[in-house]
Amino acid sequence: MSVVGWTRIGELCTADPAAGEGPLGILRDAAVVAVDGRVAWVGPSSDFPDVDVAHDMAGAAMLPGFVDAHMHPVFAGDRAVEFDSRMTGTPYSAGGIRTTVAATRAASDEALAANAARLAAEALRQGTTTLEAKSGYGLTVHDEARSLIAARTVTDETTFLGAHVVPAEFADRPDDYVDLVCGEMLDACAPHARWADVFIERGAFDVDQARRMLEAAETKGLGLRVHANQLTQGDGVQLAVEMGAASVDHCTHLSDDDIEALAGSRTVATLVPGAEFSTRSTYAPARRLWDAGVTVAIASDCNPGSSYTTSMPLMVALAVREMGLSPAEAVWAATAGGGMSLRRDDIGVIAPGRRADLISLDAPSHVHLAYRPGVPLVSGVWRAADRLV
Ligand code: NIG
Ligand code: FE
Repeated sequence: MSVVGWTRIGELCTADPAAGEGPLGILRDAAVVAVDGRVAWVGPSSDFPDVDVAHDMAGAAMLPGFVDAHMHPVFAGDRAVEFDSRMTGTPYSAGGIRTTVAATRAASDEALAANAARLAAEALRQGTTTLEAKSGYGLTVHDEARSLIAARTVTDETTFLGAHVVPAEFADRPDDYVDLVCGEMLDACAPHARWADVFIERGAFDVDQARRMLEAAETKGLGLRVHANQLTQGDGVQLAVEMGAASVDHCTHLSDDDIEALAGSRTVATLVPGAEFSTRSTYAPARRLWDAGVTVAIASDCNPGSSYTTSMPLMVALAVREMGLSPAEAVWAATAGGGMSLRRDDIGVIAPGRRADLISLDAPSHVHLAYRPGVPLVSGVWRAADRLV
């Protein structure tokens, strides 16, 4: 049995509102004990018991490891040129995805896995202890399957996104591509995936095509996630709610009906402010969603086109500054919210029984994540009580 403890935590953000103050369930001068990688006890430093390995946090803030529930880390090449021209006025469109598809198809399996590992390591250094990884830049049976095999080298939370866009070779017969995704591609990919995702958007797939692909994926036992309402206000959010998707992501352009539908559902709205930052878009209405009672997560959307960042601290800062969440709400969305988006009850919260995924800050409070944007504040990262950073 291995017993690890952290004591003299100046501000412990449990992300369990029932455990302490505010949405983050904050405890002060607190301590945590983990047994065999799971949290066994949370309490005041004055009651800190004997442990095998003790970490004296000397007043620092600690919080759950970030749960980044939306990443696209399996790809080759970059799109700095596209970003540059966007910053001088060219609008973002879904079509840019095809540039990365060409580079990804030309890359070796080793190169794809190395890229995913590089981004996972970068995310870990910034406090991400769980990440989701999508395919979606292969768009052939072989390239989607090997993308998921590469994704599996960095996480168990893998998502089949063969329905990212219609690849160029199917441009004049998109329904044949939908047939391929529902048939042979899904058969090859389902064994390597926990989730399936569809990009519902002008230039990608419509709601009828998406429904077919999501139904096929569900039949194969995959959980559902959806990219919707990123560039335009369509019916994607309604479809995600109707189909009981675990998460609908982006949600930048929402109607009142969309918000009402989300509020009455178990579908998490996973917001990706990095995409809005990097495409110079308006931001998703996080404040309205939160106030309506929708479960909100925030994620990086790390990908080479619309959001080439792995930084969850940056997402917290953007959610606060640009989307109207308080720092406590934004950190909750980046931890507990991400865990709910992945339908996980073992991560995202510091409470007895949960995996001991914790991070420490070189700061006395979680507020500093938004107050000191761009500063590398994450000073320690533990997954299942093992120190990784
Ligand atoms: O989530 N929206 C669709 N997919 C990605 C963008 C992919 C790309 O531009 O390469 C996203 O933003
Ligand atoms: Fe995405």
